[in-house]
Amino acid sequence: MSGTSKDQHYQADLDTANEMIRKCAMASVIKWKRNSLVLLVVLVLVVLFVYMSSGTYMSESYSPLKFQSPVRHEYTVWPEFTPVSRLDHNYFLTHCVKNLNHSITGLFQLQEQWSVSRHTSCRDLYDKFKTIFTIDGRKATLSLPDLLKEKVFGWLGKEQDLYKEVFNQDVIHVINEFTHEHTVFNPLRDKRPVAPPKEPEDVYFNQIMKDSAESCDFCNYKNFTAEHTFGRVESKFAFSASNVFKLDTLHALLALKKHDPLHWSLEEFLDLFQLVNTWINKANTNFPKARYPGVVWDVLPKCGASQVHPHLHVILDFERHHGVMEAWRKGAQQYFDVQHSNYFSDLVSIYTAFNLTATLGKAVAFPNLVPKKDHEIVVIAERPDSDFYTLLFLVLRGLIDDVHKMCFSMGIALPALNVAEGKLPAYARVITRGYITDVRADISSLELFLSTNVNIDPYNTIEIVRNSINQRLKKSES
Ligand SMILES: *[C@@H]1O[C@H](CO)[C@@H](O)[C@H](O)[C@H]1NC(C)=O
Ligand SMILES: *[C@@H]1O[C@H](CO)[C@@H](O)[C@H](O)[C@H]1NC(C)=O
Ligand SMILES: *[C@@H]1O[C@H](CO)[C@@H](O)[C@H](O)[C@H]1NC(C)=O
Ligand SMILES: [Zn+2]
Repeated sequence: MSGTSKDQHYQADLDTANEMIRKCAMASVIKWKRNSLVLLVVLVLVVLFVYMSSGTYMSESYSPLKFQSPVRHEYTVWPEFTPVSRLDHNYFLTHCVKNLNHSITGLFQLQEQWSVSRHTSCRDLYDKFKTIFTIDGRKATLSLPDLLKEKVFGWLGKEQDLYKEVFNQDVIHVINEFTHEHTVFNPLRDKRPVAPPKEPEDVYFNQIMKDSAESCDFCNYKNFTAEHTFGRVESKFAFSASNVFKLDTLHALLALKKHDPLHWSLEEFLDLFQLVNTWINKANTNFPKARYPGVVWDVLPKCGASQVHPHLHVILDFERHHGVMEAWRKGAQQYFDVQHSNYFSDLVSIYTAFNLTATLGKAVAFPNLVPKKDHEIVVIAERPDSDFYTLLFLVLRGLIDDVHKMCFSMGIALPALNVAEGKLPAYARVITRGYITDVRADISSLELFLSTNVNIDPYNTIEIVRNSINQRLKKSES
């Protein structure tokens, strides 16, 4: 009963309110009619001004969604990246462990001795290592029917020791708990003799160079490449273009002026990446809120390149780094939350302790223990300076010229512009992808949906970098 009387009160209040609203509205309508012409003109001017100054009338515009979901993870300011390890390899060998077999299996075996080390600095580094990496060794046994035995013996180059290993294989799983990357090594596979490709790679390369040069758009870039509305940038050896079918508001192609994707000098290489920097700054000047750079480079069709002409993709995003780069950033933040130190500096310390680094000035290279594919080498520096790009050049020349890997894929994350929180250092990741004549893809459902299989030992990979530095720097010094 009392509910009904309350409802009646509400009804009376509502009627009064509605009456008042009606009166107010009438008054407004009369006023509005009086000033309608003036108001309309002012309104049109304001709308026009807001539209023009927001830049949405331009062809390249960035319009974020009006109702954004809340920020999913907060970034904080990390300690600055340092390429100097807190602990060198000799110290590690004398204080932390008794001996280390320089191989991925050796790193797996090492953990037990390291875990019982009494030195504070050893324990401290062990703690960081175990926070980031899980290295597991698995045994895999099998039996073979007689006829297959002979075949397998042949696959292993008729080497008795290798053949024995077939029946009791070591499989090493490496997991990065922050980036969630997972790589499986079977060291026995790497020991197999490899047959040369049926079609010689040099013959294929010369042919594809000749065929593609005739109608190459990049060789004639002024007529046949798009550009951003704010224009292109150009240098002695390189130029920029806009991708025609874009992956982001700011998506450029940076290309060398010459057609050959494999043979470039240090001068050309540094000039190209200087121009990458120039383009990023120009894009940022035109779009000050675009701040997160990412660069990728594939060479030749086998490694995913759409054109033979050497060209790299540069993205400058408004919100975050793209994909895998943001995953590394997020991982580094989660690591900082646990360890209160710079993830990338600690990685360098761990790789240095393992004797897996090569240094050039302020830049360091190491083979990723959780590689995406063959020979993954990471080059890292606080800033993308000449040390960084020179070391990257030496890595690539070592792979191309010394071990004859004729194509590569590479991603370079660059520090965000004017963002102090969650600041990535400059880092490049380089992989090789097998014979350029091999029609079989090197990436399968394993890499796409499960984990990566790589068999090349990280200790062999770092040797390529060290040799390249020794050879080429000595040559240039003399
Ligand atoms: C290194 O390898 C040898 C032979 O392969 C083995 O006997 C030794 O235990 C290994 N060392 C470590 C620290 O695991
Ligand atoms: C490129 O364009 C310029 C001027 O528009 C023209 O003179 C030149 O012949 C063109 N080159 C080619 C290869 O079409
Ligand atoms: C580190 O590895 C290199 C081989 O890559 C070797 O020459 C050097 O002696 C090693 N350093 C130590 C301290 O064992
Ligand atoms: Zn070309």
